[in-house]
Formats: sequence, C-alpha cells, structure tokens
Amino acid sequence: LRGATIKELLKNRLNAEDLGGISLSYDVIGDIAVVKFSDKWLEKETIIANTILENNRHIKTVLRQASPVEGAYRTRKLEWIAGEQRTETVHREYNCTFKVDLSKVYFSPRLSFERLRVARLVKPKEVVINMFAGVGCFSIFIGKYSEATRVYSIDINPEAVRLMEENIRLNGLDDRIFAIRGDARDIVGKGLKGVADRVLMPLPEKAFDYLEDALHALKPKGGWIHYYDFAHSRKYENPVAKISNKVSSKLRKLGTNITENGKIVRSVGPNWYQVVLDLMVS
Ligand SMILES: C[S@@+](CC[C@H](N)C(=O)[O-])C[C@H]1O[C@@H](n2cnc3c(N)ncnc32)[C@H](O)[C@@H]1O
Repeated sequence: LRGATIKELLKNRLNAEDLGGISLSYDVIGDIAVVKFSDKWLEKETIIANTILENNRHIKTVLRQASPVEGAYRTRKLEWIAGEQRTETVHREYNCTFKVDLSKVYFSPRLSFERLRVARLVKPKEVVINMFAGVGCFSIFIGKYSEATRVYSIDINPEAVRLMEENIRLNGLDDRIFAIRGDARDIVGKGLKGVADRVLMPLPEKAFDYLEDALHALKPKGGWIHYYDFAHSRKYENPVAKISNKVSSKLRKLGTNITENGKIVRSVGPNWYQVVLDLMVS
C-alpha cells in the first residue's frame, strides 16, 4: 500500500473535494502503520485508519505521527488511531530482525537499502564503530552481510541500547557486535581511540560536530567514515556538493587528507535531502 493507493481506496468513503485536498504518507514498521497527515484531517482519522486495516491483513495497529522526529533520542510523538493499542513491534528486512518500540526509539524502514549498501562495503576482519546505533540496524546488517571482526555499537538512549542488546541476540551476533550505552564522544575518548577501520555516523543532526571524534576513532593508518547530513537544495543546486564543501573545509582545517564519494540517500521534504559521504581518510 502506498499513499496514492490509500487515496484510491478512500474514494468510496470521502467526497471528491476532501479526497483532492488530503495529503498523507505512511510507513509500515513490522505490523504497525505510522500515518502522517495534517491536523485538518483529524476528524477523518478513523476512516483513514480503518481503510488501511481492512486492506492489509498484516497491519494490526495504526498510529498517527503527531510531531516531527525530535530531541536527543530522535523520537516522535505517536497517537493511537485504530487496531491493537501498542507501539512495540518486530520489523524484518533483508533477513535481519529488529524489535522496536516506536514511542521510545528512532526507526526508519526507509533506510534499509542504505544499511545494506554500507554493510556490503565492509571488508573481512574490519573493526567498525557505529557512533549513533539506535536499536542496532546498521550494526546488525554489518554482522550479517560482512566478515567484520567487531562492531562497537554506541547509543545514548537507554531504551535503544536495551532493544539493541535484544536484537543482537535475536540475530545471533553476540560474539561480534557490542552494544555500548553513552555519548559517542565520551565512549570513543575513553576506550575506542585508534581502533576502527570504519566509523558510521548515522545522525545527520550531529555528525558534523562529531567529525573530529570519528577521526580519533580511526586507526593511525586511516580508514572509512560514513558521514550523514541534511541539505536544503533548490532546483539547480547540488545537495551532495553542498555537504561535501562543508565537510572538506572542516577536514582541511584539521589537516586531514580525504577522498570522498557522496550521494543522496533520500528526500526528506520539499528541497530537503539526506546525504551520505563515504570519506576515505589517509
Ligand atoms: C537517527 S537515529 C539513527 C539510529 C540508527 N542508526 C538507525 O538507522 O536506525 C540516531 C541515534 O543517535 C542517538 N544519539 C543521539 N545523540 C547521541 C550521542 N551524543 N551519542 C550517541 N548516540 C546518540 C539517538 O539516541 C538515536 O538513537
């Protein structure tokens, strides 16, 4: 089911004028649908939710996203609309299993291909640090799709770390992935300096501030940093070039040599993009 299809399905239940003005999108995470629509459609929320439930037997709960992703833990406010009253579910993608509680942790099914892309770049025997690991999605993909020796998987949200520990066990990766609770800067500073072949920074809001910490985490010979950021970009601007200029000027000031590759991961709003840079630091 996609936004356009729900609109098709709503044809029988809403009048043409309402239907024309409605803009909605939704994600399916495990057996929960998280729907986004503006406040003016609140009175139609039961119709929208029931349409989703009736047309997809795998979905058991419909929640409305009532705030943007916000705060240090990158969570969002959710309101129950229909079905079973819960925010916990188990999501499966590419043979990986993730238990999540959507009211307490960040999770996006829209990053699944990006997780696979990064995991496939990891070479045998690498040591990896995931600075902002959430419930462990990137780390578990790396555990499943590479022969990395160790993945240190850091998050500051205690609930995310609890679920990450459960997910590491569920996916049978206890011997190679290590969940660590704390601020990535403290954890790297206290015990992970100079150990990594590869560092992941999947927190676009903070990655720029933590770049120096990522450099400290790399082995003295260098390695890879996967750097995520957001860029505003009008029609003839290039969001990847914008982020690339910003990052390379900072790294130049720090006296670091890099080669880089970048791309748009996804569009997150009008003229607003999530970008990744794969930085090779030597
Ligand atoms: C956008 S989420 C990404 C989660 C995960 N990588 C994923 O793709 O599902 C960013 C995560 O960084 C965590 N976080 C925020 N500030 C942090 C910090 N200073 N140190 C470590 N983790 C932090 C948040 O709790 C959140 O789980």
